[in-house]
Amino acid sequence: MLVQADEGELLFQGNCVTCHYPNKSVSAPSMQKVRETYKTAFKDKKDFVYYMSTWVLHPSHDTAMMSDAVKKYKLMPQLAYEKEVLEEIASYIYKTDFSKSKNTTLP
Ligand code: HEC
Repeated sequence: MLVQADEGELLFQGNCVTCHYPNKSVSAPSMQKVRETYKTAFKDKKDFVYYMSTWVLHPSHDTAMMSDAVKKYKLMPQLAYEKEVLEEIASYIYKTDFSKSKNTTLP
């Protein structure tokens, strides 16, 4: 059987990595940090995916979990993605250990 490319992974690599490197915080907190913060707050995959996709759909100071990051990097801009797409991405983030990923997209 062929291994299918994970859609969430492709979307993440195409859209989020520009600002969120896997485990290096440059212009935004690393995805490893974001994931840890969300995993600590939401043990359940359903809650994790729901909260993350809802937040990314409409980033807001009021609901941001990483207020230190908001202070340091400014609030994340709103991106033009559908909720379903963001759910795919959030599921991928939930199941991925970024600590060993290479920050290969660094310029
Ligand atoms: C233009 C740069 C940029 C892009 C692209 C970007 N982010 Fe962010 N993101 C940020 C910055 C800066 C922060 C830290 C400040 C904040 O929390 O708003 C952040 C924070 C976050 C947070 C934590 C929010 C919180 O609770 O504080 C999540 C979750 C997140 N990003 C997910 C994503 C996902 C998923 C994508 C891809 C679809 C993405 N980001 C693309 C810049 C970006």
